Amino acid sequence: MGIDSIIEIIESSQEMQARSEVIRLSGKKIGLFPTLGFLHEGHLELIRQVRKRSDFVVMSLFVNPIQFGPNEDFEKYPRDTEGDLTKAKGKGVDMVFMPPVSEMYPAGFQSVVRVDNITKHLCGRSRPGHFEGVTTVVAKLFNIIKPHMAVFGQKDFQQLAVIRRMVKDLNMDIEIIGVPTIREPDGLAMSSRNKYLNQEERKSALSLKKAMDMASKLAGEGERETKNIITSISELILSYPFTNIDYINICDPDTLEDINLLKEQSLLALAVRVGNTRLIDNCLINIG
Ligand code: PAF
Repeated sequence: MGIDSIIEIIESSQEMQARSEVIRLSGKKIGLFPTLGFLHEGHLELIRQVRKRSDFVVMSLFVNPIQFGPNEDFEKYPRDTEGDLTKAKGKGVDMVFMPPVSEMYPAGFQSVVRVDNITKHLCGRSRPGHFEGVTTVVAKLFNIIKPHMAVFGQKDFQQLAVIRRMVKDLNMDIEIIGVPTIREPDGLAMSSRNKYLNQEERKSALSLKKAMDMASKLAGEGERETKNIITSISELILSYPFTNIDYINICDPDTLEDINLLKEQSLLALAVRVGNTRLIDNCLINIG
C-alpha cells in the first residue's frame, strides 16, 4: 500500500494554501500539529488535543534543517515517514503537509523571524540560532496552512513560550495550545531522541525526573535559595553514569530569567547529555 493511499499528503505550499482557503471558507476550524516526526505517544496526545478543538487537522511533517546547528543531529534525526502517517491517520489527522526542503527554503531564501530576549536563555545559550530556525519555520507553516489553532508540547517549554511571544508580538490570529508532557511509566519524558539511548543510558536518563522530584521536595521542605537546589540536583544527576549537564536553571516562567529565590511559581529547566544524547525536561515548582 502506498503512503498516499493511507492519508492525503500535500507537498506544495501553494496547493496547501489553496486547500486551506477552501476549508476556511466552508466554516471549518483548522487545527495544526507541526512535527519533526518519529511520532510517539506524546505526539499522539498533541493530535488528540487539537482534534478535540478543531474540525480539520493538518499535520506538518518536516525535519527543519535551519533549527539544527552545524554539529547537531539533523542528518541522523530519527525518521519513519510511513509509520508516522499510519499513526496520524489512526488519531484523526485529515491532511499532511510534507514539503521537501527546497519547497520551504528555495534558492534565494533570506528572511528570518527572530524573537529577542526569551530566546537568549536556557537552550538559546547552548543552541545558538535554534529558536530563529523554529520561529521562521513555524511562521511559514502558519502562513501556508492558515490554522485557527496550533498545538505544542510543554516539554519544549521555551519553544512554547517563544512561539506564544511571536504570535502576540506579530498579531498572528492563531490560538496556541500547550499540552502537558507525556511520560513513560518510570517518569522519563517521551522524546524522539530517547531512541538514541542504549539500555544503560536509558537508566541514567531517569536522573532528570529524579532531579525534578528532588527539587520539588526541597522546596516543599522550605528551601528557597535556587543555588542550593541546583547544587543538590546537579550532584544527583552526576551520580548517574554517562551524564553531563548542559544547563540546570531555575527561572521566572514568563521571562525565563534566572532567579535567586523561588517565587510562588518558578520554572526548573534542565538539559543533560546522557552519552551522546541531549535530553531536556522541565517542571514548575509551586510554593506558598
Ligand atoms: O517541536 C518540534 O517538533 C519542532 O521544533 C517544530 C515546532 C515542529 C518546528 O520545526
